[in-house]
Amino acid sequence: MTSVSKEYVLGQSTDAARRLAIQDAQFADVSEALLDDLQIQPDDRVVEIGPGAGGFSRRVFKRLGQGGVLVGVDYSPGLLDQARQNLAGQGEARFEPVVADVSHPGPWLDGADVVVGRTVVHHIPLAESWLGRLKSALQPGTRVGFVEPEFRALLGRLAVLEAAGRPELAVLRLWAEGISRFYSASGLSPAVGATLAWALEAAGYRNVTRHATECPTDETVIENLHLYYDEIRERYLKLGIMTAAEIDDQKRRLRELSLANVPAVWGIYRVTAQA
Ligand SMILES: C[S@@+](CC[C@H](N)C(=O)[O-])C[C@H]1O[C@@H](n2cnc3c(N)ncnc32)[C@H](O)[C@@H]1O
Repeated sequence: MTSVSKEYVLGQSTDAARRLAIQDAQFADVSEALLDDLQIQPDDRVVEIGPGAGGFSRRVFKRLGQGGVLVGVDYSPGLLDQARQNLAGQGEARFEPVVADVSHPGPWLDGADVVVGRTVVHHIPLAESWLGRLKSALQPGTRVGFVEPEFRALLGRLAVLEAAGRPELAVLRLWAEGISRFYSASGLSPAVGATLAWALEAAGYRNVTRHATECPTDETVIENLHLYYDEIRERYLKLGIMTAAEIDDQKRRLRELSLANVPAVWGIYRVTAQA
């Protein structure tokens, strides 16, 4: 491993790993569809941007054979360690963890057949410029694929439903507005999913494909939102996004929310291309 290490904006705790595990289950179908689209071959060298605790990595790893390599690049050594444990005994391929800030393309990209990332591009400041730097660092023909969340497009529907007599849905709107404001205040790119395909085309990637779906709001989504509030609490207070009382109130309202006929609070994009 190299020596760069920073703190993941949403924390590195056991709860963070639990939240990422819930997300892995929620994103199972879209993750497998992305890997199908990319036609991962057993001996591919796959570079994964921001593997975190390794939920998506496991899915990649299972498609690789003895000659395959998964390079996991993350600036959180704690989460990379969890990824290493997560991959133990999962297949014949080799896992190469690299501690690095992915916003600066580095030698870890050398020889990549495929570059993937799940829910990580929006963590990169001005991600569109990064996509261009990534393109310049890759061999022509390298397959790239990303799964990215959508936090904003569904806000309008939530607001309409609230105005039409569903005030209890404010808790979902306020969560989605909060995460979007938090990422913006942190200098990240919370809305990059929506324009990812266009940004890839503008940067000269070829054969760009794009799919968008909504994630149904179920018990695991609500647990995810609870865990998110616990992880983010101190930073919300520091950035003035919510007060402690407001966070507690939102958590109470989440507990009280009946899940019958509740709309999606986030969506997901799956985008592929070739450098
Ligand atoms: C939302 S988590 C996604 C984890 C994993 N891809 C998954 O789907 O379960 C984002 C991950 O990206 C990593 N990350 C964010 N920004 C990064 C950067 N600039 N350099 C390296 N890793 C980064 C975080 O440490 C974290 O592990």
